[in-house]
Amino acid sequence: MPLPFIADYFWKGIPGLPGPLTVLKVVAVVAFIGLLKWYLAGKVNTSERQMHSKVIMITGGTSGIGAATALSLARRGAQIVLLVHQSPKDIFLVDYIDDLREQSGNEMIYAEQVDLSSLHSIRQFATKWIDNAPPRRLDMIILCGSTLTPPGKPRVLSDEGLEETWVVNYLANFHLLSILSPAIRAQPPDRDVRILFTTCSAYIASPPIIDGSEALTKKDWTPAKAYARSKLALMIFGQAFQKHLDSRKRPDGAPSNARVVFVDPGYSRTPGMRRWLTRGTLWGLGLYLALWQTVWLLLKSSEGGAQNLLYAAMEATLGRGEGGKLIKECRELDYARIDVKDEKIAKKLWESSEKLIERVEREEAVKRALQKKEKEELEKNKQSAEHVPDKSDAPVVGEGKKSKSRRQRKAKS
Ligand SMILES: NC(=O)c1ccc[n+]([C@@H]2O[C@H](COP(=O)([O-])OP(=O)(O)OC[C@H]3O[C@@H](n4cnc5c(N)ncnc54)[C@H](OP(=O)(O)O)[C@@H]3O)[C@@H](O)[C@H]2O)c1
Repeated sequence: MPLPFIADYFWKGIPGLPGPLTVLKVVAVVAFIGLLKWYLAGKVNTSERQMHSKVIMITGGTSGIGAATALSLARRGAQIVLLVHQSPKDIFLVDYIDDLREQSGNEMIYAEQVDLSSLHSIRQFATKWIDNAPPRRLDMIILCGSTLTPPGKPRVLSDEGLEETWVVNYLANFHLLSILSPAIRAQPPDRDVRILFTTCSAYIASPPIIDGSEALTKKDWTPAKAYARSKLALMIFGQAFQKHLDSRKRPDGAPSNARVVFVDPGYSRTPGMRRWLTRGTLWGLGLYLALWQTVWLLLKSSEGGAQNLLYAAMEATLGRGEGGKLIKECRELDYARIDVKDEKIAKKLWESSEKLIERVEREEAVKRALQKKEKEELEKNKQSAEHVPDKSDAPVVGEGKKSKSRRQRKAKS
């Protein structure tokens, strides 16, 4: 019988088995780790909404939290438009989309090439999207694309000469949404349109935003400040974008049906997080692998982080009332900084971002025109070098005259 056996074990002990105290200690440790993991794994989304056939545009949908979100929404039948920086012909991308289609059982997954570090690339895509007549269906935009410079690494500039973290994490979203704004407003009034901004609690430690130009200088630049600043700017812009959507009159006169939702997924084990923790080094990667159990214990999985985005995408109450709410652990949270809602800062940031984009786009257009001209001239020179007449090409004396007189004779007859 088990009861006398257990009683014997606790009172007298059983030779060959560890003592009861040891067993209790092991059970306590396992229970503690289990509880800690359960707590740190974060909340699971329980909100559902009919997602079938909804058109969802997503940046950063090829990795980490974005990829987990894209898969979950695709499984619910949404049409997914991934904005990726690779060419659609890239074999890894083709494989990735095939996998996603297979795993989700949904064929409606496409990719569009948009390099978030290039203002030109964003404009090319977004203008193509809004040029479509009638306006294309667009139910949701999920802004998950981001980058960071690992600690200790130097400042990286985009091909257009701007600090990369600022461009990818903030300016790209400003540019994309500014151009797509008419397409968002053109959605029928009964459609619940959501724009999910992925943020991070790092924004709390950001230096204050003046007008955004400070993010482009080398002074006081550190990877952590650059990342935190880009997230704070994104949140200030998101609040201003909500006001912009609310204040613009829709063509049909109905109230705005588009809402901005900020989502903090929480610290998760993603490629981006790994790059940060390993400082982009091999020895860092070694340490990361050696401490894998600790990383597993303390950080959520990508799917765990994605729960917050799924909540923001599907929770019914977020489709009503005012927009601009912050979601963390599948519930609404207050902002930790008052400057997120400061309209004066938002105005300055908006204006200076517009000016910056205008300047960079003009400079880049000039560069492209010059490059095109140089290329054409080079091509022309190459062609004329290939056709340098040699002796064999030279007409035999009198041949020209002969053919001319033949032509003349033909004309006469
Ligand atoms: N992970 C965390 O612990 C954590 C915590 C709080 C907030 N967040 C936020 O959650 C979001 C997702 O984080 P994550 O860790 O899952 O990110 P991640 O693994 O680093 O993935 C970033 C995504 O952005 C894309 N991307 C980067 N540069 C791009 C460019 N120039 N053009 C187009 N796409 C580009 C990447 O594409 P490729 O893979 O093709 O390069 C990738 O799909 C981010 O906004 C992040 O700030 C994350």
